Amino acid sequence: MHLLIPAAGSGRRMGSQRNKLLLTLLEKPLLSWTLAAAEASGHITWIGIMGQPDDFPDFEAIVSDLSLTKPVKLIQGGATRQESVYNGLQSLPPESDRVLIHDGARCLATAELFDRSAEALLTCPGLIVAIPVKDTIKVVDERRIVRDTPERSNLWAAQTPQGFEVQLLKKCHEEGREKGWEVTDDAALFEKCGLPVQIVEGEETNLKVTTPVDLALAEFILRQRTLTVDR
Ligand code: CTP
Ligand code: MG
Repeated sequence: MHLLIPAAGSGRRMGSQRNKLLLTLLEKPLLSWTLAAAEASGHITWIGIMGQPDDFPDFEAIVSDLSLTKPVKLIQGGATRQESVYNGLQSLPPESDRVLIHDGARCLATAELFDRSAEALLTCPGLIVAIPVKDTIKVVDERRIVRDTPERSNLWAAQTPQGFEVQLLKKCHEEGREKGWEVTDDAALFEKCGLPVQIVEGEETNLKVTTPVDLALAEFILRQRTLTVDR
């Protein structure tokens, strides 16, 4: 199965000068942790990384340091995640029928999670990994008055990987462009087109490194994993 990694962001909320995926996490760039998990997954056979051209030399260095056995293609990203994925879909190998999409910033996702997603994608047209939310979620208006409290047992926090039949997702992206839909994940386009999106159990540690606190948490979690392996 083919994997697309959106990695063309700027990391504004991280407050760093460069793409947060190039920041160091336990002596390695953040993106190399994501790629190492993709390399270890038995189901993934090809990796496309969407990035800004300025970052390509750094990405190339990361890929070559990892000595990946799988083919890797660098693809020019867009101004939004949605555009970056759109570009990635156009650059998939022609034989690609199902694709997993995984945020470069979710660098703690395990190879098992990729494998579980890839297997589930053989039996449904679209899926996301997600976990039940722990917080009570409030719907709030522009004056910060609470308008609604959705039943928590119906709420799941979306993560990546997300997986789709390629032709269906391409159609949804085209429709989204025509109609000006702006979404933060691909499943939202699928839903807007009336297509079903299956939930696959995610991982509590599969956080999206977004702020400096997330970076510290990611470091803590990775250290724990290394300790467990050494024991
Ligand atoms: N991404 C992308 N193209 C963009 C914007 C984001 O490929 N134009 C990628 C990011 O590199 C990241 C993933 O989408 O791997 C999720 O985005 P996010 O966590 O929001 O990262 P950034 O956009 O870099 O961060 P911020 O929103 O704080 O600027
Ligand atoms: Mg962003």
